[in-house]
Amino acid sequence: MDAQGHNERVPRHSAGRARLTEGEPQLSGSTVKQCCATFYGSDAARFLLGESFHPGGTQLTHELAQRMGLGSHSRVLDVASGRGTSALYLAATFGCEVVGIDFSEENTRLAQAAAAERGLTGHVTFVPGDAEHLPFPDASFSAIVCECAFCTFPDKAAAAAEFFRVLAPGGRLGLTDLTKAASAPAELEGLLAWIACIGDAQPAIRYEAWLRSAHFDIAERLDRSACLLDMIHQVSGRLLIAEVMTGLRKLELPGLDPAQAKQFLAAASRAIAPG
Ligand SMILES: C[S@@+](CC[C@H](N)C(=O)[O-])C[C@H]1O[C@@H](n2cnc3c(N)ncnc32)[C@H](O)[C@@H]1O
Repeated sequence: MDAQGHNERVPRHSAGRARLTEGEPQLSGSTVKQCCATFYGSDAARFLLGESFHPGGTQLTHELAQRMGLGSHSRVLDVASGRGTSALYLAATFGCEVVGIDFSEENTRLAQAAAAERGLTGHVTFVPGDAEHLPFPDASFSAIVCECAFCTFPDKAAAAAEFFRVLAPGGRLGLTDLTKAASAPAELEGLLAWIACIGDAQPAIRYEAWLRSAHFDIAERLDRSACLLDMIHQVSGRLLIAEVMTGLRKLELPGLDPAQAKQFLAAASRAIAPG
């Protein structure tokens, strides 16, 4: 085990509560989960991000699956499966049996419909639920993927312990996520930051510390920062289209404030270079 990882202190606000900015009241864990799930179940999320809600998209999912050695022998849990894009891809491309779980009932419903449309109902199932309280027996999966979601869980220790519990001995976890090396500029704090997965993003060694505390060994860690910049460019382009179309009243995206989102994206771009 890595002493550096072990000595790393987990920030107090991550044990089930979310801090907005210094001096402001905390958000409850359930508020954070609900807001994140509501946004990622919305038309605005789909318009801005497409079907895959993580930097790197399906290409990064493919790399992750290859590195984890997934195949037709694998029973995979996709934690925070969003619209089901990765789960369906893993079943169709690698022949895995996949169960997807997401806090958003809307996402779960849409993902199940997509599985039926693609003729994958027997291979992929989606259920609503919470990563911090997985509704599965011990040792029921050979692998877990969790893409761009661990950073949003208010109680990361609980989620990591649940991952370990439902994995069979020798099982593998593939996690792709945002990392934050330094404290973020003020514009990147607040609920929007939590929804965009930046609010409680942590340095990679902190994620490792949570996982080691839950008895995982860390096999490999890779940097794919370029994927994040690509995603910001994509979202900026779509935001511009959204702004024009909503201005012309040809599109309605309730809950999306393009001006606020643009400011947020600009701040995110500026924050990426220094880490
Ligand atoms: C950035 S999206 C990623 C979705 C998917 N993994 C993908 O890459 O397309 C984050 C997802 O986490 C889900 N989520 C947030 N908190 C959750 C929790 N506590 N348990 C399960 N899902 C959660 C949201 O509903 C949302 O679909």
